[in-house]
Amino acid sequence: MIIDPRGTIIWLFVAMRDSMIDTNFDVIKILSAGAKALGAGAEEESRWEIPTDHSDPIDLAVGMPVPEGIPMASLANHFSKVLSSGRFVEMEYEYGRGKIDLRELLNDPSYGLTSLSQTPDNFILFNGGSGCMESFCATFLNPGDIVLVEGPSFSGTVETILKYQGKIIEVAMTPEGMSYQAIEDLVAKCRRSGDVIKGIYTIDDFHNPTGVTMSENNRRMIGQLALENGIMILEDSTYSGLFFENTPPLDMYSMNGGEGVLRMGTFSKTIATGLRLGWLQGSSEAIDAIGKTRSDMGNAPFIQTVVSRFIASSEYSIHVKKMRSLYQSQCKALTNSLTQHCSNYLEFIEPRGGFFLWPKCIGVDSAALTKSAAEEGVIFPDGSLFYQDPSLHENHIRLAFSGNSPERLDEVGLRLRKAFEKLLD
Ligand SMILES: Cc1ncc(COP(=O)(O)O)c(C=O)c1O
Repeated sequence: MIIDPRGTIIWLFVAMRDSMIDTNFDVIKILSAGAKALGAGAEEESRWEIPTDHSDPIDLAVGMPVPEGIPMASLANHFSKVLSSGRFVEMEYEYGRGKIDLRELLNDPSYGLTSLSQTPDNFILFNGGSGCMESFCATFLNPGDIVLVEGPSFSGTVETILKYQGKIIEVAMTPEGMSYQAIEDLVAKCRRSGDVIKGIYTIDDFHNPTGVTMSENNRRMIGQLALENGIMILEDSTYSGLFFENTPPLDMYSMNGGEGVLRMGTFSKTIATGLRLGWLQGSSEAIDAIGKTRSDMGNAPFIQTVVSRFIASSEYSIHVKKMRSLYQSQCKALTNSLTQHCSNYLEFIEPRGGFFLWPKCIGVDSAALTKSAAEEGVIFPDGSLFYQDPSLHENHIRLAFSGNSPERLDEVGLRLRKAFEKLLD
């Protein structure tokens, strides 16, 4: 036994380590099918953040608000007011659908977060859009149920379907959004085979990763088809408020009069990802059912109150308006830079909102480009990461323009041109 306190800690550590070595506990053996489907237990390197030795890399990998755009001072003011109010209720569990103040604001079309005003009880708050996706799957998916998703789509939410052992079928994107024809064919095929299509997951405004916005006609037709066939649409409106000039077409939830659609929103992209605050709007039947499957003890009432005050004070509307023009100028800086330096190597359609550009690489393999670009100091993911079936990949890359200033984005074209030239040498 070692007497001095430091020695005692070492002795305890050695004893603990030895007792751990003796066990044969096999974590991998007890993983759920859902965890395995997401790669738990497999040793795979992340292909999102490509390593680089560059001294000043420009990171276009992740869709996050530009740090200078986060309204820190206003949030600090509201945080401090809520904390000094002496109201302990903000610091306690909120088991139900979330704070009524915030749900009332969500239900008021004048704040721009819904187009179909119903009641605050048509809303339920979760841990971001990701929490909404979890609750959708927990409430509606049985193992083997089919969910149609856009191919490509945002893997973060789509993989939740796999975790719940749903079956994903990717539907091709067209310039009008998800292909109506492909959905109609799949619905007919499943009717014949007896397979159950439970849901359609769509990011219909400023799609991640393609930037495409679904046309009004397509929304109407897909909405109607889903309604007639008892298929729930999960409409992911994460980027809807971040249009550059014109608002996107009416959302599918409002078009369907609130039936057969759940509309998902989040403050991650308009305020900050770290707030972890999102919501679902749905029929009272759907929201009741979702409320009953909730077992997370609610999410952060304190944050809900802070965000309510930020919205009610009109600061939110002013902030989002500013962000729209900031992201438009960032998008423009990136597309101008690519047009100037890379027009022989990249083809793209300019998005009208959101965070992403989805260029197609000409004459060079997109995965090879991600590595060569990292060496030149530009980091972004290969387009194959956005498909569940990578064979659908058509040589695209995804560039998130949201997180860098126009001045930084001006530099991207030149760096990428060097990356292309190195590969073509
Ligand atoms: C389309 C889409 N949906 C949902 C999310 C998840 O957002 P949240 O931070 O609200 O969980 C993201 C995040 O990038 C996204 O791009």
